[in-house]
Amino acid sequence: MQSSTQPDESPGADPLAVFVEWQALAAERGGVMPDAFALATATPDGRPSVRTVLYKGVLDGAVRLVTNYDSRKGRELTDNPHGALMFFWPVLDRQVRMEGRLERAPASESDAYFASRDRESQLGAWASAQSQPVPTRAALMAAFQRVQERFAGAPVPRPPHWGVVHLIPERIELWLAGAHRLHDRFAYTREVAGWRCQRLMP
Ligand SMILES: Cc1cc2nc3c(=O)[nH]c(=O)nc-3n(C[C@H](O)[C@H](O)[C@H](O)COP(=O)(O)O)c2cc1C
Repeated sequence: MQSSTQPDESPGADPLAVFVEWQALAAERGGVMPDAFALATATPDGRPSVRTVLYKGVLDGAVRLVTNYDSRKGRELTDNPHGALMFFWPVLDRQVRMEGRLERAPASESDAYFASRDRESQLGAWASAQSQPVPTRAALMAAFQRVQERFAGAPVPRPPHWGVVHLIPERIELWLAGAHRLHDRFAYTREVAGWRCQRLMP
């Protein structure tokens, strides 16, 4: 994709490609949980909520994560498909922010990802009605025990309420720490012809 405007010294014309490079670099440099990021969702009347989730790669222009579709975030993204995310890698002193549309991935993509998980994680996805109250830890472990018995000796299918979510960014900001707190910020907005990039004051 070609950028329609590109200020001097920007990290690149395609911010999603730069993000992928930075995330890999943070992992290579031994950063702490370089795949963890904050995901914000909101209710239809705009009340936000935020939590940490794990990055599962970029596919066809979308950042991927996995979750329970009936969880608080799952319900919020169904009712209001606008979300935001934020990565900060202390090892690089760089931050990436994105805003865009949240969508459930096609079932085939979620099936493929679920099949790649270890069996205990697969059973955990059945056992946990994520975000619902549970009286004790023992009650949670009893639910896990029940699903172990239910699927004993058989492959674990993907629960219908669990799967991949895509965030398709419309705005991406790349932030690099600079001397004297004069940081570099590059804000990209998606346009028909590609990404438009502006340098912002820190
Ligand atoms: C390091 C870390 C990684 C996490 N990764 C995920 C994840 O990939 N998917 C997920 O649904 N929850 C993940 N969680 C749990 C969420 O932060 C959150 O507690 C859960 O998804 C319920 O959020 P909700 O009630 O807002 O839906 C993670 C938590 C931490 C601290």
